[in-house]
Amino acid sequence: MKLVIPSETKIGEKRVALTPEAVAKLVKLGLTISVQAKAGLSATYSDDAYKAAGAKLFEKTSLDRELASAQVVATVRPLPTRAIAKLKKDAITLSFLSPTTNGTEIRALARAGVTALSFDLVPRISRAQSMDALTSQALCGGYRAALIAAERSTKFFPMLMTAAGTVTPAKVLVLGAGVAGLQAMATAKRLGGVVSAYDVRSSSADEVKSMGATFITLNLDALEGSGGYAKEMTKERTKAQQDALKPYVSEADIVITTAAVPGKKAPLLITKDMMSEMKPGSVLVDLAAESGGNIQGSIAGKDVLVKVPDGSITIVGCKDLPSQIATHSSKLYAQNVVSLLSLFTEKGKVQPDIEDEVVAGSAVVYKGEVRNETAKLTLGLVKPQKGSK
Ligand SMILES: NC(=O)c1ccc[n+]([C@@H]2O[C@H](COP(=O)([O-])OP(=O)(O)OC[C@H]3O[C@@H](n4cnc5c(N)ncnc54)[C@H](O)[C@@H]3O)[C@@H](O)[C@H]2O)c1
Repeated sequence: MKLVIPSETKIGEKRVALTPEAVAKLVKLGLTISVQAKAGLSATYSDDAYKAAGAKLFEKTSLDRELASAQVVATVRPLPTRAIAKLKKDAITLSFLSPTTNGTEIRALARAGVTALSFDLVPRISRAQSMDALTSQALCGGYRAALIAAERSTKFFPMLMTAAGTVTPAKVLVLGAGVAGLQAMATAKRLGGVVSAYDVRSSSADEVKSMGATFITLNLDALEGSGGYAKEMTKERTKAQQDALKPYVSEADIVITTAAVPGKKAPLLITKDMMSEMKPGSVLVDLAAESGGNIQGSIAGKDVLVKVPDGSITIVGCKDLPSQIATHSSKLYAQNVVSLLSLFTEKGKVQPDIEDEVVAGSAVVYKGEVRNETAKLTLGLVKPQKGSK
């Protein structure tokens, strides 16, 4: 059966869904693989490397024909609707396909009668760890966030004792201790910063400590939701947390925010008032800038200067972070694709079984039927339940 890898089309997206190394693994599984010429170039994977791994290359002019004969199409971002319209019935697409924001694409996938599996929805069970692209890409984001902070800062991260004097280490505060936050802590720690962190899930305290960081305990209730995720904050809890965190924010040279609640707008953790007593030159990096922002005034893809007494501080609104480390983010994503495909590919035949928990969990659309409840809401196929937003 044929697997097609088209070039990514979203501006700024440098990742590619399969690397040559991953192509070789899937060829062994009996798949025929077609890769669009230059699809891997921005992630540093050459056409020659794909050919050597056993892929066939095709030019953009043949894209429609390739899509029409594909059994599986793998991308990082959702396929554009124009490409979806070319797919044959019963084809399978693999990509990130957020059911809250990709309504147009989901409608087109259902209309095309295909099965669309989304990496946003792969269940976080041990059997599916190798397929967990949310984790692999969050890891890349957390790493980049710490490096961006170090680049923008006017200070060293490590403590230095030199003949010209002693430099004290940077104080790094990380808010949100999920996959991205923990990787940001580990990276800031390796750079020599003094790292502390806060998360509404008190269960994250041990993970924070294992990164060499100090867990900040506030006199507030923990907000543990189901599946290891956080619960949304009430207005009162938001204000109380902001008040309690203000002194920690004022003291920090670097703040990295990574807080998220699945399916909701990112919580506002840092207000203008909380930043007002920060030292000039301090840097705040908002990893959640694309999903609503953890920091008041952050803009995805932009640096925003905020005045403080005697100078200014910088808020960096992150955008496309995994793309900024495209060689390795693609390598990890490609392995997630291989692992998911291996689950339901035998002797070159790709047959996702909807009875399987991983397939059922990640299928936004199955054989033309919209299955995911959030996607149904997004498309207006069901009415929101009373009390839900
Ligand atoms: N395969 C697996 O089993 C697996 C894989 C990855 C993650 N996980 C677990 O899933 C959970 C979520 O991880 P994630 O990285 O996807 O998280 P996420 O991206 O949903 O959120 C990031 C972090 O923000 C925190 N947060 C939310 N609201 C906050 C607030 N108001 N203030 C401070 N922090 C706030 C969350 O608790 C979370 O730690 C964790 O328990 C993680 O260990 C499990």
